Amino acid sequence: MSGQRARLGVLVSGSGSNLQALLDASGQEGFPAEVACVVSNVPTAFALERARKAGVPAVVVDHKAYASKADFEKALLEALRAAGVEWVCLAGFMRLLSADFLAHYTGRVLNIHPSLLPAFPGLHAQRQALERGVKVAGCTVHFVDAGTDTGPIIAQAAVPVLPDDDEKSLSARILTEEHRLYPLAVRLAVSGKVTLDGTRTRVDAQATVGELSLRSPGAPR
Ligand code: GRF
Repeated sequence: MSGQRARLGVLVSGSGSNLQALLDASGQEGFPAEVACVVSNVPTAFALERARKAGVPAVVVDHKAYASKADFEKALLEALRAAGVEWVCLAGFMRLLSADFLAHYTGRVLNIHPSLLPAFPGLHAQRQALERGVKVAGCTVHFVDAGTDTGPIIAQAAVPVLPDDDEKSLSARILTEEHRLYPLAVRLAVSGKVTLDGTRTRVDAQATVGELSLRSPGAPR
């Protein structure tokens, strides 16, 4: 990979295990992006510790400290701009971003969601999957639009739902795949191998053979 690495701003609210996956990927030779800053809207988020440990600037922009969503997003934008962020990755970030905010990073905001979208958008996706009795669950990385988990899909990974699964066991199985999928999707997006095309994404088929739909470990190939 030649040239400069894309500067990622990772927005978090909680544990930050997906942030960790991106930090780990950033440390790998040839990965075309680096985490330039981490922004949390939750002051106590463990993700902030992960950032500090990795030596990445971490800031808190607490939505509760702002009178309006517009003011909160203005502060978010300022933090991202100050760090020279080019791409925004939502990683367990529990606030919806407005169209106005997204317009500053058109086609450069990604999210990971723990379901095979468009099934089970929103909160408690794993619980929704269990309640519906699906036999295959998974995760999705998508470009972000102003809807809830509705943006164009970049990549998906599937896992089986086992008969004795509960929310915790299913979430853990999905999370393992999330940690593989998010760095892969970021790599393809920032290097222009997957691009926005209306409600879908356009894929450089040669560059992505077999990568955009990962199968669960152990599934027959
Ligand atoms: C993940 O399941 C992600 O898909 C969802 O929120 C969770 C965040 O986990 N959006 P973590 O903070 O990355 O550990």
